[in-house]
Amino acid sequence: MELDLEDERILCGEQGGTKQKMLELLVALGKVFGAERLVPITSAQVSGASYKTIGEYGLDWLRSLNGRAVVPAVLNPIGMPRGRWEEMGVDTLFAEKQNSVVAAYERLGVQLECTCTPYYLHQTRFGDHLAWSESSAVSYANSVIGARTNREGGPGALAAALVGKTPCYGLHLPENRRPSLVIDVAMPNRKMGIAEFGALGYRAGRLAGNRIPYFRGIRPDLDQLKALGAAMAATGAVALYHVEGVTPEAQDPAELPASLEEISIEAAELEALFTDIPVDAVAVGCPHCSPAELDELARLLTGKIVTMPFYVFASQGVIDANRKTVDRIEKSGARVFADTCMVVSPVMEQYQAIMVNSGKALAYVPDMCGAVARMGTIGDCVKVATE
Ligand code: F3S
Repeated sequence: MELDLEDERILCGEQGGTKQKMLELLVALGKVFGAERLVPITSAQVSGASYKTIGEYGLDWLRSLNGRAVVPAVLNPIGMPRGRWEEMGVDTLFAEKQNSVVAAYERLGVQLECTCTPYYLHQTRFGDHLAWSESSAVSYANSVIGARTNREGGPGALAAALVGKTPCYGLHLPENRRPSLVIDVAMPNRKMGIAEFGALGYRAGRLAGNRIPYFRGIRPDLDQLKALGAAMAATGAVALYHVEGVTPEAQDPAELPASLEEISIEAAELEALFTDIPVDAVAVGCPHCSPAELDELARLLTGKIVTMPFYVFASQGVIDANRKTVDRIEKSGARVFADTCMVVSPVMEQYQAIMVNSGKALAYVPDMCGAVARMGTIGDCVKVATE
């Protein structure tokens, strides 16, 4: 692997300590994946932030590190809202451990904006090289923005943040970003909202595996693209997709190789995912809500009172910038929490069945929360919670 002089010196132990260890980790990763060089990154997004997922071993590892991030770096959602953990029902022992994890990242210069939607807070541009971890954020960065990132593990993203570079392989290379599968979507009579795009992603991820789909027949907006990509990254390993006429790297259909496999997804396959089982909580904001999603929720909840726990998740930055909207939502009894989500917070494990409007949550809630997941539109979620 080709390294510049400064990196060679660091690897020779000139600075010692964490930076050398982190660079060794990046070089080892690069060798495994056949990278020829490291590429400078403009930002990192680091998973492995909830104490629920990293436990004591992860905390000890973080505490053993020194150094500072040299590019903007944010954390993935943690297990609780830092300012409102008691209100959410997080127990004191967990909160202490979670605060220790957060403090360890803060010491390393990682910004404490704990979110899977860092693109709402920091400008990320077409062609930027990134080292992001969370699968929906990776999908959005690659597919919707046209930035370039592999799906990094937590240690790889943290190493990249501290070094400012990542191994250049996989989706950093233009030749690996071309579609490998065409998906035709036939929804003649179904209005496609965020939940429908989540359901489409849930189904498409299963079919695509780790291929790069090229969609035809849909015109999603930005929030719908977010929902589609998040779900495909959960039921499959899709880190990049294209939508004809919508996403920035989608080529002209006439230029697609004739040899590409073509499959189609019909409305009935999505409808089967929308059930009407009874639930004891509702959770939306997977991925974290955009300002437009908060607006829609505020509109639907105005004048209503929820009769069961209703969780809404968004980044602190989006909440702060939309305070009046958040107040309108919370007037109904719903709670808008920052920093965390229905999958990484231990609080959600108390429920038997949770209603969601996200294909990703539909895939993860059963295993991560031990609860049945019910899929519905945002309108269905409000209806069920206010009946
Ligand atoms: Fe984000 Fe949590 Fe969903 S990290 S994508 S809200 S599972």
